[in-house]
Amino acid sequence: MTILDGKKVSNDIKEEIAVDVQSMIANGEKVPHLAAILVGTDGASMTYVNAKVKACEKIGFHSTLIDLPEETTEEVLLEKINELNTNDDIDGFIVQLPLPKHIDEQKVLMAIDPDKDVDGFHPTNVGRMALDLPTFLPATPFGIMELLERYNVETSGKNVVVMGRSHIVGRPMSILMSQKRKAGDATVTVVHSRTKNLAEITREADIIVAAIGISEYLTGDMVKDGVVVIDVGITRVPDDTKKAGYRLAGDVDFASVSPKASFITPVPGGVGPMTIAMLLKNTLLARERHNK
Ligand code: GUN
Repeated sequence: MTILDGKKVSNDIKEEIAVDVQSMIANGEKVPHLAAILVGTDGASMTYVNAKVKACEKIGFHSTLIDLPEETTEEVLLEKINELNTNDDIDGFIVQLPLPKHIDEQKVLMAIDPDKDVDGFHPTNVGRMALDLPTFLPATPFGIMELLERYNVETSGKNVVVMGRSHIVGRPMSILMSQKRKAGDATVTVVHSRTKNLAEITREADIIVAAIGISEYLTGDMVKDGVVVIDVGITRVPDDTKKAGYRLAGDVDFASVSPKASFITPVPGGVGPMTIAMLLKNTLLARERHNK
């Protein structure tokens, strides 16, 4: 069993980007600038956004964190987005999800300039992805593809089961893995909360991408020997033995699944760090495109 070490691979990618940044500086070029908007004080969102900003600093990008209160109106948020759309110094930006309930998420995502949409969530970029045109791939699926590629995991002709149909992970993942690309050419099945005989389907899978948001849902009896398992879940589970009062759990029951797996991502240290690295990669791409 091989651990797909997202922490290590993401560090490799960050080092590669840092080298690019150094040569940009040496050539007197502007370095990439990422902005992130956070609305409210959701603990997990604050952790993720801070990690994104910190990663920018580490590799030499400029970053701006726009921290808005929970009660921010949709109108004010849309104004902020417009400011970032028109600010030439900002190469790319993200609006951290989920947003408070009184804000229409789709309306917000559609307000982002597709050329600055480094999360790849704008309908224009989702459409471009589906048509296999150059675009910003959403960071989590992009990170999973990169991890599979760098570990030379064979995907061509394999049965891939994607668990979950979210706009951020499940749906794009299913599209990408069915396309003609290095970590692609797979036969993809999407399963979700209304799927019947789910375990029968997962037991036929050569590769499983677990992105359903239920902690430790996928257990050893639901997979076959030699399966490749990508765990996208990250849930805080109450745990009195931990100083923080919780532990982080994935969608996969690592203890029972890992003995049967040929490759598996850990939680934490698997998909999570890859997501940040690919957001940085998209921001670099946005900078390069703006130069052209
Ligand atoms: N919330 C969970 N994942 C993501 C992500 O990749 N981008 C943004 N903006 N919000 C998220």
